[in-house]
Amino acid sequence: MTKQIFLGAFEELTPNFISNAWHHEKGDTSGFATLEYWQEMARELDAAGFDFLFFAEAIGYPMSGDDVPEVVIREAVQFPVHDPMTIVSGLAATVDRLGFVVTASTTAQQPYLNARAFTTLDHLTKGRVAWNVVTSDNQVGLVKLLGQREVTPHDERYRRATEFLDLSFKLWEGAWEDDAIVNDKATRTFADPAKVHRIRHDGEYFHLDGYYPATPSVQRTPLLLQAGTSSAGRAFAGRFAECVFIQDRDIDQAAATVRDLRARAVANGRSADSVRIMDAVSIVVADTEEEALAARAMLDSTPSREAAAALFMGWSGVDLMKFDLDQTLAEVTTEVGQSMLGMFQRGEESPTVAEILDRITTSIGGPRLTGTPEQIADEMQRFVEVADVDGFLIEYTYGGMDTYRDFIDTVMPVLRQRGLLPETPRGGTMRDRLLGAGDRLPDSHPGATHRRR
Ligand SMILES: Cc1cc2nc3c(=O)[nH]c(=O)nc-3n(C[C@H](O)[C@H](O)[C@H](O)COP(=O)(O)O)c2cc1C
Repeated sequence: MTKQIFLGAFEELTPNFISNAWHHEKGDTSGFATLEYWQEMARELDAAGFDFLFFAEAIGYPMSGDDVPEVVIREAVQFPVHDPMTIVSGLAATVDRLGFVVTASTTAQQPYLNARAFTTLDHLTKGRVAWNVVTSDNQVGLVKLLGQREVTPHDERYRRATEFLDLSFKLWEGAWEDDAIVNDKATRTFADPAKVHRIRHDGEYFHLDGYYPATPSVQRTPLLLQAGTSSAGRAFAGRFAECVFIQDRDIDQAAATVRDLRARAVANGRSADSVRIMDAVSIVVADTEEEALAARAMLDSTPSREAAAALFMGWSGVDLMKFDLDQTLAEVTTEVGQSMLGMFQRGEESPTVAEILDRITTSIGGPRLTGTPEQIADEMQRFVEVADVDGFLIEYTYGGMDTYRDFIDTVMPVLRQRGLLPETPRGGTMRDRLLGAGDRLPDSHPGATHRRR
């Protein structure tokens, strides 16, 4: 029997995201800075049976050399962008089933403050929060805005991320014993000091000596997601990630990525299905194939090439506008997003810059599905059966709920009919919902070694 899939909505607190098509006639993102805009989206996704709303994070913005290309500000290429962490409690109060993924960067953040923010959100959402652990794209902006002296080299960012997680586990898993909170008025004992432990960490990047004053939340460690598939990124995912986002357009490539990620989990003493793998997809659906193709063509013609190139530059560190159109990127290296650049360096023949620009209009990464509801469902089912993906992250296309409504109304019923979606939407904590083995980190996860027995 075909397995049931997970669905997430891929968003950022910005008026213009992956497709760069905020000015398409369909879609309205003018309310992106308001709580009401996201509440409306959360309500509709929740009612439709989505598992989560995913918020990407861009601390910086696309930069070329020392400055921001004009197109970034004029055409709103990840600029403006707001803080994703602050929106979640307002949304958790609006819907009581949908989960939330918040992206936070181990290159930019500080472990103690990050841990405390996630513990607070895990309490407020009753365990419906997940952390998308990134080492960050947009490195140049990040350096300039955070006062770092220089870009931390790519693999070193993953070393820092590993230590960041190690310290976070000490705080989340090791600071409080399960029965430390007594809450006894008669003895004036809120918590048993013998069961609240001092944490010491003296590492290469971080130092901490003290107590963790945030009480244990439902999941303790939020469900851990990861989305970098460079070799350092995959090694990191194999150790820690409970869900990985991939962006493979080609089904055989997706199958290879999934096999590799599951094998890495197994090599780390975890089971192959202890990690859920979701491909990001851009969907345009209509009643007939002709209408869908016309709608896709219209969407593709909406953004400028400069805007598409600027978004790619922010994510990969490579400025396509500086290359000749008939050049390839085969020899190019980057200290920014290696998996993003790597997508255009695979195979015998690397695509030319002109071909890359055509391929990244309105969707840089994963499969672009265009067709009738049945055709879209067929293609999603094929990715599940052939590539063994566990679900899909639906990419921003038109902006606002116009990205999702046709998919919800026409494709989701087909998926449900085929048994690919559950009859009743899943609920519970993010971890139990995705992995089905309880709210807490499984014993096989390295974070669990920090637990006090
Ligand atoms: C679906 C998806 C979502 C991502 N979201 C973010 C994000 O919100 N913020 C960010 O800085 N990087 C994001 N990334 C990038 C990475 O997680 C990673 O930090 C970056 O690709 C550099 O690592 P790499 O060289 O291993 O790819 C995302 C990647 C994917 C595939």
